[in-house]
Amino acid sequence: MGNIVIKTEADIQAMRPACRLAAQTLEEAGKIVRIGLTTDEINTFVHDFTIAAGATPAPLNYRGYPKSVCTSVNEVICHGIPGKRVLLDGDIVNIDVTSILDGWHGDVSATFYVGEPSQEARSLVETTRECLQLGIDAARPGARLGDIGAVIQKHAEARGCSVVRDFVGHGIGRSFHEGPQVAHFGKHGRGQRIVKGMTFTIEPMINQGKWNMRVLSDEWTAVTTDGKLSAQFEHTIAITNDGVEILTAFENPLVNSEVFLKD
Ligand code: MF3
Ligand code: CO
Ligand code: CO
Repeated sequence: MGNIVIKTEADIQAMRPACRLAAQTLEEAGKIVRIGLTTDEINTFVHDFTIAAGATPAPLNYRGYPKSVCTSVNEVICHGIPGKRVLLDGDIVNIDVTSILDGWHGDVSATFYVGEPSQEARSLVETTRECLQLGIDAARPGARLGDIGAVIQKHAEARGCSVVRDFVGHGIGRSFHEGPQVAHFGKHGRGQRIVKGMTFTIEPMINQGKWNMRVLSDEWTAVTTDGKLSAQFEHTIAITNDGVEILTAFENPLVNSEVFLKD
């Protein structure tokens, strides 16, 4: 996945617009989620929004990936390819947006509710949202990458869920994926030390059942082997003097996602 590239203040300043655009694109994409929408329609929206902003959708043609966004429904863990799949009442869908603006990448994703979620879907999605926040809270100079994985794993497993092993968070900047690899499971005090100027994603994929996955014959779509639900949230963060800056922070609560917290 490449080396760790420590960013200067100027680098982080240059990365902010790409990250802000990715977050804004995801916010807007979340608003169109509804029963009857196809995942291809989400792709068209994200593609057009990105181009209109003078940016490039990073997924398109990345290692042969055929679309401009990933849309992962229900049992799809990640890398779902937009297509004819129609969103149904009770589905959950992760939308994963990566934008390239002025040569810098911003990577962010969230899971949205389609119609009314079941109690178990809601429990999984809210647990996963909490896992990302706990991981972000554990990231600061002097901590270790294992501290992030440990808090995420502990919370997911306490809720009866499991942590996907096969995909990790990643350094990001001028490259889509660079070092370090950020596992969402692990042990406190283990792994690389976190230092100021690192920019990486935390993107836990949490399963309702077992963590095991397989990849479909399209060579991208990763699904749970037991067919149970999987959810994911992702932010791009920068390590500051004393903590983190969430570069892909949202300006408003996510429609069709966070609104359910207010019930
Ligand atoms: N956005 C994903 C990530 O969080 C990567 C998608 S790669 C693609 O790292 F080719 F499927 F788009
Ligand atoms: Co990512
Ligand atoms: Co992503």
